[in-house]
Amino acid sequence: MSRTVYVNGDYLPEAEAKVSIFDRGFLMADGVYEVTSVLGGKLIDFDGHLKRLHRSLGELGIAAPCSDDDLLAMHRALIEKNAIDEGMIYLQVTRGNPGDRSFVFPDASVKPTLIAFTQNIPNLADAPAAKTGFKVISIPDIRWGRRDIKTVQLLYPSMGKMMAKKAGVDDSWFVEDGAVTEGTSNNAYIVKGNKIITRQLTSDILHGITRASVLRFAAEAQFEVEERPFTIAEAQAADEAFSTAASIFVMPVVEIDGAAIGTGKPGPVATRLREIYLDEMRKAAL
Ligand code: PDD
Repeated sequence: MSRTVYVNGDYLPEAEAKVSIFDRGFLMADGVYEVTSVLGGKLIDFDGHLKRLHRSLGELGIAAPCSDDDLLAMHRALIEKNAIDEGMIYLQVTRGNPGDRSFVFPDASVKPTLIAFTQNIPNLADAPAAKTGFKVISIPDIRWGRRDIKTVQLLYPSMGKMMAKKAGVDDSWFVEDGAVTEGTSNNAYIVKGNKIITRQLTSDILHGITRASVLRFAAEAQFEVEERPFTIAEAQAADEAFSTAASIFVMPVVEIDGAAIGTGKPGPVATRLREIYLDEMRKAAL
């Protein structure tokens, strides 16, 4: 079924949606994005995604394409027009189309490009992978130094996913200076006893919106949270491991570089955090 997508103020059939070849998103990867999940036809953690969008735009000096109310209305219109019950909405803002290629940023007369589309995923919350868990491999983190900005430069994360696929596993965790930074498209955690350990927020990682909510719920559920780097060896010796992202919520990780974590099955902490996250976020959905 053809989707209705959004391009710069218009709702169009996907085959008719077009962006210029001179758009800086296309030529320079000069753009940022957000992925918001949808459960029961409602937006999960939308305010968090909006806040991070503004931060990413601000760090790159790209103007906001429209008001937050307009962005909310546009997300809701896409959900309705595409009859999405469970799935995701992808939004991208680029520095726009200056009409030619140049390394110099265009002046303010060039308006940012705003596009968005839905992805219909009927079993997003009840994903089979959450019952078996992810297997991951570790690979070197050779991405740029501003991973806190959610840019569309996703070539290396995409290569990381392909390395995982080739190795017969589900994902890759990036390692820099001996410590795990994050997954290809998710934040990474280990569990030791009652303690949840995840890397602290710096420009080394994306400041996950799911991460912020999960850590808040974890503290409320009396888990201890420690924000610091950890090694692959420490992860392999942990009781549990997991990843978080808008696309996977809380995903147990059961194997790293061929070594089973804990029992080799999704652990009780990751399973409980996934349940709490889904329950609480459904209640707060917009
Ligand atoms: N990725 N780290 C990276 C590198 C990511 O790309 C993502 C999200 C996250 C988790 O962020 P959040 O909890 O806000 O989704 C962490 C999205 C889902 C994607 O690229 O599809």
